[in-house]
Formats: sequence, C-alpha cells, structure tokens
Amino acid sequence: MDEFHLLSKRFGPLAADLELDDSAPAVHRQLAKRGSVRKFRPEQIQGHVLRRLCALALCAPTKSDLQQRDIIIIDSPALRSEICVLLASGRLGQKWLEEVPNLLIFCGNNRRQRRLHALRARPFVNDHLDAFFNATVDAAIALSSFVVAAEAAGLGVCPISAVRNHPDRLAELLNLPEQVFPVAGLAVGYPDEPPPRSLRLPLPATIHHNTYTDDTLDAAIEEYDRRRSAEQPYVTQRYVNELGRSESYGWSEDKARQYAFPERQDFGTYVKRIGFKLD
Ligand SMILES: Cc1cc2nc3c(=O)[nH]c(=O)nc-3n(C[C@H](O)[C@H](O)[C@H](O)COP(=O)(O)O)c2cc1C
Repeated sequence: MDEFHLLSKRFGPLAADLELDDSAPAVHRQLAKRGSVRKFRPEQIQGHVLRRLCALALCAPTKSDLQQRDIIIIDSPALRSEICVLLASGRLGQKWLEEVPNLLIFCGNNRRQRRLHALRARPFVNDHLDAFFNATVDAAIALSSFVVAAEAAGLGVCPISAVRNHPDRLAELLNLPEQVFPVAGLAVGYPDEPPPRSLRLPLPATIHHNTYTDDTLDAAIEEYDRRRSAEQPYVTQRYVNELGRSESYGWSEDKARQYAFPERQDFGTYVKRIGFKLD
C-alpha cells in the first residue's frame, strides 16, 4: 500500500478530500497507517517502557474523573504462558496467542468507586447498568490510548477479546475481586511482520452530519465488499463445515457467518455474578 493515499485506500474514493499532506502531524499519519500485529519477535519489552506506556494510557479521558480502569501487566512468564494457553484453547481459541511475548489485561473497575462510598459513608445509589458501562468505556479509552502510544514507539499491538472467553478462570488467575472485570487483553511486542492495513467501511456509512441515516447502507456494504475482495480477499472462510463454501466471500458474509454462531453467551451471567446489576 502506498504512503500517499492512506485514507482513500482505507475508506475508498469518497475520502480523497481528506488526504493528509506534509503539514499533517506525525500521529495522523501513524493512525492512518496502523494495523494490528499478531506476529512478534520473542523479545520482552523492558518493564519501565511498558509502565510508561500504561501511564500514558491512563492520561486518557475518564468519565467524571472516576478513573474506573486498571491495567494488569502480566510479567510473570509462567502466568503469561498459562493465560496464553487458556486464550488459545476452546472453540473460540486463537492459536497465535500462544506466542505473545508481552501481555496486558485492561480491566473495568467499579470496585474503587464503591470503596469511596464505604470510606465516606455515602450510599452508592447508582447500582445499575451505567456502573458497568462507565467502567467498560473507561477501560476501552485507556486501551485505545495505549495502542496509539505503543505504535508511536514502533511497537505492534493487538487487542484480545478472547480474555472474555473464560472469564471465571481468568479472574481466578488474576485474583480479580468483585466489580473488577477484563474488558480486553492487549498483545504487545516488536513486530515480526509489517502491520496489515485493513480497509474500512466508506465514511458515509459511519460518519453522519446532524442526523443519523442509513439510507445508503446496503449499497455501501456492497461497495465495501467489492473493494475489500479486490484489495484484501479473505483467504479462509468461517464455518465451512456448517455453512458450506461461498462463491463470493466478502466482509459482510464473514461477519454474518461469525455471529450466526454463539459467542460468550455466559458473559452476562459472569458480570452479574461479580456484582453488577445490568438493568
Ligand atoms: C476490543 C477488541 C478486541 C479484539 N479482540 C481480538 C482477538 O481476540 N483476536 C484478534 O486476533 N484480534 C482482535 N482484535 C483486533 C481486531 O480484529 C482488529 O482491530 C480488526 O480486525 C481491524 O484490524 P486492524 O486493527 O488491523 O485495523 C480486537 C480488537 C478490539 C478493538
């Protein structure tokens, strides 16, 4: 992929007027070029480098200054390998996770807030979905900032939702108490492959002006499927045994196949069990 038409390559020709010029801040070019890395050199990242990236991530905005996110650095090789084997196992397991050299777990944490209420002898009366939602969003924002900071330092990363495949076992391994839960893992390391630059939906499908509209969504999906198949065709198809092979297999077929089978149906039960009310 060339270095000059980064945004039109990602989003298609309708993004041509947004192209970055020489005056663009370096971080804009970095964001336009980024991609998740799943193949790393075996080296460990120095502890203080990881801790600094965590600190930078935690400079990100946080709902009402509540600071309801924590990052767990897995720097015990034995624990990392136990978690990685866990993440690679089961129906939704992912083989590449076995080789992750550095692993972080981004957690939502509503426990501290509840502690403040105990310490200050104030009732916690917001025990509803918002408590879970705010902590989740806080963790996700910190994750995103970590990604930007790490990629700026030449590191590769890939978020890992697979940490929610076995929430009870992971909570046990990390000693997570009630109201602290994994939002996503993050594999971090020195890339052993150039990051892929996956194409994105055309911007009219995802950026709206003043009002939401999806009048042209179906056409946008068709255009995206075509553009992606031409540039980055899928090399494997999901659930071929169950669903057969599709002649034209694009993004929409891949995503529809993915969610035609259950994933993490027990996660809500886990979240309720660790003390959240979701209504
Ligand atoms: C919250 C979250 C969880 C993710 N979980 C996984 C995962 O478990 N395994 C994986 O290979 N990629 C995972 N990813 C990476 C996405 O698959 C990736 O971001 C997406 O395919 C777009 O590719 P790109 O990041 O290279 O642009 C996750 C991304 C996010 C944001």
